[in-house]
Amino acid sequence: MTIQDEIQILKKEKDAVILAHYYVRPEVQKIADYIGDSFYLSKIAEKLPNRTIVFCGVSFMGESGKLLSPDKLILMPEPEADCPMAHMVAKDEVDRARKTYDNLAVVCYINSTAEIKSWSDVCVTSANAVKIVKNLPNKNILFIPDKNLGRHVAEQVPEKNVVLVKGFCPVHEHISAEEIASLRKAHPAAEVLAHPECGKEVLKLSDYIGSTSGIISRASESSKTEFIIATETGVLYELQKKNPGKHFYFPKTKPVCMDMKKITLEKVLHVLQTEKNKAQVFGELAESSKKPLKRMLELAQ
Ligand code: 13P
Ligand code: SF4
Repeated sequence: MTIQDEIQILKKEKDAVILAHYYVRPEVQKIADYIGDSFYLSKIAEKLPNRTIVFCGVSFMGESGKLLSPDKLILMPEPEADCPMAHMVAKDEVDRARKTYDNLAVVCYINSTAEIKSWSDVCVTSANAVKIVKNLPNKNILFIPDKNLGRHVAEQVPEKNVVLVKGFCPVHEHISAEEIASLRKAHPAAEVLAHPECGKEVLKLSDYIGSTSGIISRASESSKTEFIIATETGVLYELQKKNPGKHFYFPKTKPVCMDMKKITLEKVLHVLQTEKNKAQVFGELAESSKKPLKRMLELAQ
């Protein structure tokens, strides 16, 4: 019996469903019941009837799933798979902004710990950040922790005063504008599709800026056949699945999230067998960090 067969049998026995982010290994995406970006995964986790969810992603994703579905058993194949950006803001930065600005909303990228969410008024993902910030009644916005997504939102919503902090995704921040420019030279007919976690210079060179699912939809809908992709390489699996005749080029220095890659088929099987590595958020923190997530789901509708 293959490891994939063993996973399927245990899934049925335990009424489990497997969710995977586009950045995990292709073989893990292949056995997933649902694959998506952070927004899709947080919505679907809440709606699924299953008792158990195996969340193939980094810890803030499982944590968010648990906050929105406290009665479900959420299993994390690799509890050490963590997003470094999810920790990149300190409480005193939020306290200082709350003292400095009237009419302030603290807007928190979902790539953050439950504690950071609990300091915030509303969460966003890269798929809905512009829409949500635009529709908030507040003039002043403290955007945490991602300075790159925050700057992109500020450019799209110039009527707001968006205050940034210093957090960033190391994978997207290191995508080099020079490497994107040289790919453009080599493939002049290609469209450049970038994730908003990239730095300013890369976004300037892009034809389209969007979340991972936005990038995948754009490549499918576009009449072009060549694309330069400025995000983590895991999206290639879905890009190729949906667009068999099209060509995708990544920068020479491959953008790879080592935390997402920690999730393997063996670890998925292990959590199904043992029910170890549960996502958990307790007590008062669960209550206060759930509120901004719920508000995101309302405002994103
Ligand atoms: P999206 O899933 O919103 O595209 O974000 C990418 C990401 O970095 C998730 O960790
Ligand atoms: Fe975090 Fe970046 Fe990895 Fe996404 S790609 S999980 S933002 S480190």
